[in-house]
Amino acid sequence: MAKLQWTKGLEVGVDDIDNDHRITIDQLNKLSKTLDDHDFITLFLAFADHLRSHFALEEGLMTKHLFFAIDCHTDEHKRVLDEIDGILKQLEAGDTGTARNYVDVEFPEWFMVHRATMDTVTARFLAQAIA
Ligand SMILES: [Fe+2]
Ligand SMILES: [Fe+2]
Repeated sequence: MAKLQWTKGLEVGVDDIDNDHRITIDQLNKLSKTLDDHDFITLFLAFADHLRSHFALEEGLMTKHLFFAIDCHTDEHKRVLDEIDGILKQLEAGDTGTARNYVDVEFPEWFMVHRATMDTVTARFLAQAIA
């Protein structure tokens, strides 16, 4: 089960990014609690869609404000979306175990590191650029 819980300590300080991160954590917790495979797949598709739009939001802000490390941050998003595309293929093939492990263990671990590093550095830069 995903053990993430949204707290103020997870905020990076840009409202649109924080709102998306809160939704992602909520989706992960719902996915972890969902035993029915059909419901799990529906929720996983929504999780993947939201993640794509969240990455696009961050990338749009980085482009608009000429963030110096945009390529590094965008490459990491792309790597995760490729990973998720692979899991979607496995779901189509009837394997839910890989996706369940991904949302329970792998993605939460990645998310916490990514939020604390790339997203935090990006948000600090954006806050100064916007101010
Ligand atoms: Fe993010
Ligand atoms: Fe990011």
